[in-house]
Parts: sequence; structure tokens; C-alpha cells
Amino acid sequence: MMASEDKSFAAPKKPRILLAASGSVAAMKFGNLCNCFSEWGEVRAVVTKSSLHFIDRTTLPKSVVVYSDDDEWSSWKRIGDSVLHIELRRWADILIIAPLSANTLAKIAGGLCDNLLTCIVRAWDYSKPIFVAPAMNTLMWNNPFTERHLLTIDELGISLIPPVSKRLACGDIGNGAMAEPSLIFSTVRLYMEQSKLVSQ
Ligand SMILES: Cc1cc2nc3c(=O)[nH]c(=O)nc-3n(C[C@H](O)[C@H](O)[C@H](O)COP(=O)(O)O)c2cc1C
Repeated sequence: MMASEDKSFAAPKKPRILLAASGSVAAMKFGNLCNCFSEWGEVRAVVTKSSLHFIDRTTLPKSVVVYSDDDEWSSWKRIGDSVLHIELRRWADILIIAPLSANTLAKIAGGLCDNLLTCIVRAWDYSKPIFVAPAMNTLMWNNPFTERHLLTIDELGISLIPPVSKRLACGDIGNGAMAEPSLIFSTVRLYMEQSKLVSQ
């Protein structure tokens, strides 16, 4: 064995993936997304109140713990108790928000933090990556606010997985549909492997 070879018998650490859903119709694919990532990493999930209208909890892998705004407050009673959004930010190697709603995009760009997800983003350590996959109606996507907000989050160092054009759930045809979960997974995995954040 050469001196530079790894003599450790320890299994390589699985990446800790924090997956988040906000209130776009595409949150219906959140179970699929969690399944993609669970085969590769350790997954925890964060959901906004609106996203729960679209997520079928039975599609989520049993191994994935799901956190919502209620958990933030039920786990904190007094000084000294752990603060959930800080604990999750510390735990995660990466945060992926898919789908990213127009509302949550605007809140992140404006620095607002009025729920568990936006508190995690506001308290984020930007030495670690954040990816977002927006999903919204075409006119929402084409609204001038979207470009402004995307420019701002790009400056923060947040990576965009762009939406695609197709017939949307509302019946309109155009850009704004979330990228497929398999594409989101392969994009993030490639990034993590190329950045040597995980072993290949
Ligand atoms: C049926 C329905 C579908 C919606 N679909 C979308 C969507 O695809 N994208 C989006 O950005 N907002 C959509 N919205 C609006 C968001 O759910 C709303 O802005 C909400 O406040 C988002 O909250 P959140 O960002 O905290 O998850 C939809 C609302 C409804 C009632």
C-alpha cells in the first residue's frame, strides 16, 4: 500500500441533505425527490405550511424526519434549549429547496425569516451550498420581481436549477415547471462530487 492510500476501514460519511419544500404545486413531487436523495445521503426534510397542501406524507421514505414550523416552537421553551433552525443548519452539508415558490424566493431575496425554512436560510453558513429549483406559473416566472430576486440570491451564492417549459398544472403552457426530481438529484450529486464534498 502506498503512503498516500487511505488505510481507514470506516465507511465514507454519507452527505447530510436538508431538503425543503415550499408551496408550489410541484411539492406533489417532494416524495419522489426525497426517495432519490435517500438512496445516496442522510435526508431530513423541512416543509412550509403551504407546501403541506400538496405533499402526500405517505410518499415520503420512513427514514426521513420531516420538520415544520410547529416543531420550531414546540422544541424551544427556555434559554438553553436548542433552536431548531440553527441545529438543522449545523447538521446539513447542503440545503436544497425544491420546489421554491415565488413567495419563498421573494422572502429569501428580501432577508425575511418568518418560518422555519426562511430562518434556516437567513442563518445559513454560506461556506456550504444551497440549491433552489423554482416552480411557478409562467406569468409569475416572467414577472420582473422574479429576475430581481434571482439576481439577489445569486449574489448570496445560491445556485439555481432552472424551471422548464411545459403544460403547467394550471393549464397554461410555458416556463415555470420545476425541473424533474431526477435532474435535481443528478445536478446536486455531480456538484458535491466535483467539489469533493463527498467521495465518488
Ligand atoms: C392551488 C394553488 C397552487 C399554487 N401553486 C403555486 C406554484 O406553483 N408556485 C408558486 O410560487 N405559488 C403557488 N401558489 C401560491 C403559494 O402557495 C402561496 O404564495 C404561499 O403563500 C406560498 O407559501 P410558502 O412560500 O411559505 O410555501 C399556489 C397556491 C394555490 C392555492
